[in-house]
Amino acid sequence: MLMGKKILLGMTGGIAAYKIPDLVRRLKERGAQIRVVMTNNATQFITPLTLQTVSGFPVHLDFNPETENQINHIELARWADLILIAPATANFIAKLAHGFADDLLSTICLATTAQIAVAPAMNQQMWKAEVTQNNLNLLKKRSFLIFEPADGSQACGETGKGRLLESLQIIELIEIFYTKNTILKGKTVLITAGATREDLDPVRFISNRSSGKMGYAIAQAAQQAGAKVILISGKTNLTPPQFVDFIEVYSAQEMFDAVMKELEELKINIFIGTAAVADYRPIRSENQKIKKNQDIMTIELERTPDILANVAKLSPRPFVVGFAAETQEVEKYALSKLDKKNLDLIAANQVGIPNQGFDSDNNVLQVFWRDGSIELPHAPKSEIAKQLIEIIAKRFLMTF
Ligand SMILES: Cc1cc2nc3c(=O)[nH]c(=O)nc-3n(C[C@H](O)[C@H](O)[C@H](O)COP(=O)(O)O)c2cc1C
Repeated sequence: MLMGKKILLGMTGGIAAYKIPDLVRRLKERGAQIRVVMTNNATQFITPLTLQTVSGFPVHLDFNPETENQINHIELARWADLILIAPATANFIAKLAHGFADDLLSTICLATTAQIAVAPAMNQQMWKAEVTQNNLNLLKKRSFLIFEPADGSQACGETGKGRLLESLQIIELIEIFYTKNTILKGKTVLITAGATREDLDPVRFISNRSSGKMGYAIAQAAQQAGAKVILISGKTNLTPPQFVDFIEVYSAQEMFDAVMKELEELKINIFIGTAAVADYRPIRSENQKIKKNQDIMTIELERTPDILANVAKLSPRPFVVGFAAETQEVEKYALSKLDKKNLDLIAANQVGIPNQGFDSDNNVLQVFWRDGSIELPHAPKSEIAKQLIEIIAKRFLMTF
């Protein structure tokens, strides 16, 4: 898959630099062409000779009359189809975020039209620092790929997030980049997932059995189809998919507010509401834990805002996809929801059947639009998600 791909590997001055010769060797084994550019500080950690030996080509160091004469920085910027910064220091991320071009590698990054992927590696406190996170958000907004670091023990003796991913994990992410199909390229997709929680008191809430698995799989499939994806999710036990902008919310109201904010700030082409949003919430959430001093207790509930219906009412509005989870008469309820809420498409699943629907890794979906329908038979949610994204993309392109 990586045969002939032109990857420019930019190394910056982090301790994880010692892992890079292994990465280069494995990329070469897979047929990729690698050119290495090192910052001055990177050469403090590992010698250019090592990288030259494993890559089979001279390493480009900071501006240097000899190497600049052989292939200059603009040619390198044009040559690459992917620039991978690994390890990426906090310092280099800051430089990228703010457009600095004060050494060879940062100049190449500014002069390229190639995709740039950043594999950060740093002390967990440096990773957590607000300024680092702000810089990463700036890069995400500019469509850089961030290969999120792993959690675990660090060279400095601390434990936390900030370890460079292993070579094979980095290669997997590079392969995802190259296999990306482009059916949704240039489109922005907003997806909600998971269950919302409605507090009764500080220790109890009303929620439902949605795990978020279907929504997360759809977010990943949309991202792999080339879309920019924003995933707004209730609390789940899942790790958000790579390269997706992730926003965690708690209640139906928070999800509603987050969705409306994104719709105001960005041009969203497709909205997919997979979240199991609470229809009702307690009128009051008590400040203190409710005591068990009554035999029967009544909780008064009020309606929450209907996210899907409100998005579908906007003008102009995105292509709107709803989900219906029903225990009976799936088709009847799905079609009535499609109609009542003025949706473009609805995906319905029957819950309460073992090995499909809520919390399962598999699913069966019936997909309806105004003049057609299709059934996606029992399969892993990742597979169903890919098929669904293809259907959504086709319907979107035909009708919008
Ligand atoms: C021993 C040592 C290890 C370091 N490891 C890291 C690291 O893993 N990540 C990081 O962001 N900075 C690390 N630094 C700090 C960077 O080397 C420093 O910010 C430097 O300016 C980075 O330069 P560059 O981004 O131009 O390569 C380390 C510094 C030292 C002395």
